[in-house]
Amino acid sequence: MVNFIFQEAVKTVEKTTHQWQTPSNIALVKYWGKTEPQLPKNASISFTLNNCHTKTKIEFEKIEKDTEVNFDLYFEGKRKDEFKPKIAKFFDRIKEYCPYILDYSMVIHSENSFPHSSGIASSASGMAAIAMCLISLEKELNPNLSDDYLTQKASFLARLGSGSASRSIEGPLVVWGKHSDIKGSSDNYGVKFPYKVHPIFENYQDCILLVDKGEKQVSSTVGHNLMHNHPFAEQRFQQANDNLSKITTILQEGNLADFIELVESEALTLHAMMLTSNPYFILMKPNTLEIINKIWGYRAESDSNICFTLDAGANVHILYPHTEKQQVEHFINTELLKFCQKNQYICDNTGFGAQTF
Ligand code: DP6
Repeated sequence: MVNFIFQEAVKTVEKTTHQWQTPSNIALVKYWGKTEPQLPKNASISFTLNNCHTKTKIEFEKIEKDTEVNFDLYFEGKRKDEFKPKIAKFFDRIKEYCPYILDYSMVIHSENSFPHSSGIASSASGMAAIAMCLISLEKELNPNLSDDYLTQKASFLARLGSGSASRSIEGPLVVWGKHSDIKGSSDNYGVKFPYKVHPIFENYQDCILLVDKGEKQVSSTVGHNLMHNHPFAEQRFQQANDNLSKITTILQEGNLADFIELVESEALTLHAMMLTSNPYFILMKPNTLEIINKIWGYRAESDSNICFTLDAGANVHILYPHTEKQQVEHFINTELLKFCQKNQYICDNTGFGAQTF
């Protein structure tokens, strides 16, 4: 493996600020099941989103080297000490690779473009944003480090915060997890899908229907852990890797019928793993199923290529080609909004990853 341990600073940096905007992502082949230290049981692939993002600014000020990481956290302008333990744990995991964080006090300001507790995973975009800010400091400390190395290290660090965050550094398609069909793939960090993608997948649309914005009964971390000793675990990991091979071909050839079948099957299989865990649990809500049935009905009576996917929650992501935007948005407005909490939805599309702002 590439050595991600920071070696030496060639510059002194007393005070600096870095800020990054990093997107959320939606998996097409899902990551569900992991081993220490946050290594996936199978490879996964996601579309990087564009509008759903986190903006984070970190102010660094040099201090006497400490044994603990020093930071304050503001979320949407307000001090949020209740979010600190999760970030502290993240810093703890990465300080081995970024020992310089012990030389600074950090003030972190963060905000999301999507409503807080909307059920849209903010850990992916949030951890990716912090990782990018640290990597910018690292580049200041040692300008000789290459951009390719630093991008890989950003994904590596983000992964240690939240597995799916490894796929939120680049875009529009990122694979995380070692897979024989994907050149350069690794369990340690995400890589851009390395082959030419069919134009039908350019600017692909993702309309997120907010079905339930409440706190999830079971967190992703607990869900991942329930894959240990799960009766279908091994078959599931094998199936996901097989699906990654299939989608690699689909993305190059542009066969939408195959894409739809694979993506919907992945979403339902993810939830099937939850239904068959011990203890079992259900994250879908009645309206999740209402929406799925409406989508199937609409597809049966039109030549539409819409399909759905789900993450670990009740919200439905509706995926469709840019060429069908008008018709699908009409369908969503007239038929599906009634199933959303307060009629809320977010229209998004594929994006290109982290950017400064
Ligand atoms: C269902 O990345 O949120 O969205 O690594 O424990 O932070 P941790 O889990 P997380 O799991 C995401 C699971 C998923 C599928 C996916 O994004 O691949």
